[in-house]
Amino acid sequence: MPSTEAPVGAQRWVPQRPGSIDELKSAAADCQGCELYQDATQTVFGRGTPHARMVFVGEQPGDVEDQRGLPFVGPAGRLLREAVDDAGIDPADLYITNAVKHFRHTVRGSRRIHETPGPAHITACRPWLVAEFSLLKPAVVVALGATAAKALFGASFRVTRSRGQLMPWPGSAEHPDDFPIAEIQAMATIHPSAVLRADNRDIAYGGLVDDLKVAATSLA
Ligand code: URA
Ligand code: SF4
Repeated sequence: MPSTEAPVGAQRWVPQRPGSIDELKSAAADCQGCELYQDATQTVFGRGTPHARMVFVGEQPGDVEDQRGLPFVGPAGRLLREAVDDAGIDPADLYITNAVKHFRHTVRGSRRIHETPGPAHITACRPWLVAEFSLLKPAVVVALGATAAKALFGASFRVTRSRGQLMPWPGSAEHPDDFPIAEIQAMATIHPSAVLRADNRDIAYGGLVDDLKVAATSLA
């Protein structure tokens, strides 16, 4: 029963000693670490400056991102860039990626409906995230929403309970050889799409900006 087996995971596609994000991105284009590559258009890897000090982690590419091959190019990305600006963060300090790098969806008629990635997809795709962190060595990583927060902090993490709190990223300890320098700080906040869906958008947006201002203190 292959469909109930755990995915093999991305690790075997991750280069041993990658020299650049571009090298990782090329390797990730061939990833078959879980079944999500089968129905998606392409791997959507992270993008941003190679010396980014702040990394945003989203959930997975959406419909538009799947087609364009770039993360956060839709409405959620627009809102995120606005919040970054209002939090006083320099966009040149940023790199943006996703916890899961293929678009999980179901097809209904001519529409592709977003499906939240499961724990197995988060685990399977996590080696790409760790590889991105180990190259970038950012000061702080910000998880946007529950899926990213689980990828960073584990399955039992609750964004509602712990959002806006800076803490050492637990993965630094898992990968001591990749992280010889000071540990990465991490934080979870709400996903920009949740702001777009909120009953009171102003309050939800204000909360996101406040959290980003806290995250920005680790850049000082
Ligand atoms: N939402 C995400 O989490 N990631 C994207 O890239 C786009 C929308
Ligand atoms: Fe590989 Fe991640 Fe895509 Fe699964 S979702 S095939 S692990 S890149």
